Amino acid sequence: MSNNFKINNLPEYFKQYKKSIKNPKKFWNEVADNNFVWYQRWSKVLKYNMEEARITWFKNAKLNITKNCLDRHLNKRGDKTAIIWEPNNPSEEAQYITYKDLHQRVCKMANVLTELGVQKGDRVCIYLPMIPELAITMLACAKMGAVHSVIFAGFSASAIASRVKDCGAKIIICADGGYRGNKTIDLKGIVDEALAQHPSGVESVLVVRRTHHTVNMKDGRDLWLDDYYSKASSDFVTKIMDAEDPLFILYTSGSTGKPKGMLHTCAGYMVYTAYTFKNVFDYQENDIYWCSADIGWITGHSYILYGPLCNGATTIIFEGTPTYPQPDRFWEIIDKHKVTQFYTAPTAIRSLAKENSDWVKQHNLSTLRIIGSVGEPINDEAWHWYNDHVGNKKCPIVDTWWQTETGGILISPIPFVTPTKPTYATLPLPGIQPVLMDDKRNEITENQVSGNLCIRFPWPGIARSIWGDHQRYIDTYFSSFPGKYFTGDGALRDEVGYYRITGRVDDVIIVSGHNLGTAPIEDSINLHPAVAESAIVGYPHDVKGNGLYGYVILKETGETRHKVNLKKEINLLISDTIGPIAKLDKIQFVSALPKTRSGKIMRRILRKIAEGDFNNFGDTSTLLNPEIIEEIKRERIE
Ligand code: WTA
Repeated sequence: MSNNFKINNLPEYFKQYKKSIKNPKKFWNEVADNNFVWYQRWSKVLKYNMEEARITWFKNAKLNITKNCLDRHLNKRGDKTAIIWEPNNPSEEAQYITYKDLHQRVCKMANVLTELGVQKGDRVCIYLPMIPELAITMLACAKMGAVHSVIFAGFSASAIASRVKDCGAKIIICADGGYRGNKTIDLKGIVDEALAQHPSGVESVLVVRRTHHTVNMKDGRDLWLDDYYSKASSDFVTKIMDAEDPLFILYTSGSTGKPKGMLHTCAGYMVYTAYTFKNVFDYQENDIYWCSADIGWITGHSYILYGPLCNGATTIIFEGTPTYPQPDRFWEIIDKHKVTQFYTAPTAIRSLAKENSDWVKQHNLSTLRIIGSVGEPINDEAWHWYNDHVGNKKCPIVDTWWQTETGGILISPIPFVTPTKPTYATLPLPGIQPVLMDDKRNEITENQVSGNLCIRFPWPGIARSIWGDHQRYIDTYFSSFPGKYFTGDGALRDEVGYYRITGRVDDVIIVSGHNLGTAPIEDSINLHPAVAESAIVGYPHDVKGNGLYGYVILKETGETRHKVNLKKEINLLISDTIGPIAKLDKIQFVSALPKTRSGKIMRRILRKIAEGDFNNFGDTSTLLNPEIIEEIKRERIE
């Protein structure tokens, strides 16, 4: 991304912003025209219909994102490090993968996948830990026009099975195992279990060696990557993709048990992630950029991989955790690799802030220029700790608000340009038109108000659909506030127009930065034979942001088992069906749940009780069973 598209001061931001709103097509036309390699130009910049959620950017353009992420850098930056891989255990050596090496490894991987029968348009599920092969297989898919769907390597077998089934993948790429802190995770065993649940369709499982422990290899299905990779050619002819061909599917939680496969397409996603990476991280040629997210989430897709590589950056992939072997691992990595931009989540900041600040002081963090936050609202205390101890009060904090659905960052300060304000994501990036709507669907135009956060106009990175279910895409995002994209978040706008994201207004709870739908968790609890019904709410948690509080009604079966065992079994069930991240922090057995006359659980009341706030229940006149509130209050778990 050329420096001409970098915003350098506040007047320039306002000028660019105004231009981008007045004539979005002209604005994005210029960005796309000047910063990428295309096989063929577009015939139309944008065509859209918000009611039907039909959005086309750069119609008829031909491209491949990997030409932009890899090939075009080979002449000028072939020997520059593209990826620094930092292993879980600091005694293992880091790897420095140059653009030339990365290109070669991606081509070889694309040849392996071709040999295994993967073709353009096929879906490929990737269940890998944070090792170089994760980036390489994603890029190989993109190079050959296959659609990758990365499944976070902390998800359970059932979560894999439902995703593999939904996208119809015929191949899964996994590792024998993965390292996280002092744990070794049997990733291949989990895939085997997933395939026992959903046997159809998957023809092969390609296994990357990482932990070298013994795994079961099923004849005719399971293959070691090494056997193919060592023989593969490093010449591969890049597939020419249409602007709106699928690039990847990434699942996110929804209000039903079925995960939503957000579909992103080639051209718009590329243009948007490259443009936002350049501006939000003030990327300069010799920077060492580190985003500590997992590539299994959108943050990793857009801001570990595609955005940085499109800019020819050096990006770090870290396999481990913030506290292994000691709570200074993040600071040690910043010091070791001379990191200039560091991007992490509030939950990590809060947990590291709890440690002695000497852990930070022992390391030289003076190379840092910009520090970022993403995934959930950052509270005041965490913001200040990050600013004081990590940024040393000289690095702007970019509090970046965005979503899996938005492809890239929508609201964020531009460093050294937008004055920051603790807990505020501040101003929209060029091309983004946030609006606040009240519950009666009216737009709120004044400042110093809160409302439902919507976006008025499409931007290139917006998801195009939910895989296999376009109607659900319309229903979820485009029907609550017709003509607008509804984010599911609430926001506050201050007196100067800065935005502060206050949290979800729907039934998604963000725990340690992971989005968890309440419905899938309730579904899995209800699988327990002793459970009649359940309701999950979030409550403030000082490290995780939100903790999960479950209210569970047991069946009248004369259940004699100890309640402590039941609680354990419920959490085991959740772990098995979703993953350990969704385990409940507190479980309260109740005889009934507060319900409205129409049978809807009044979650607002359950939330208040979980928070310990017994005074602000609001209007309870529509409750069918108000007497239950006393019981629930009395037996609340501290
Ligand atoms: C929340 C992550 C406050 C928000 C990129 C959003 C945030 C959801 C912020 C999307 C932020 C993300 N401040 N809240 N800076 N960033 N969120 O899909 O509720 O994993 O809707 O994408 O995270 O989470 P997702």
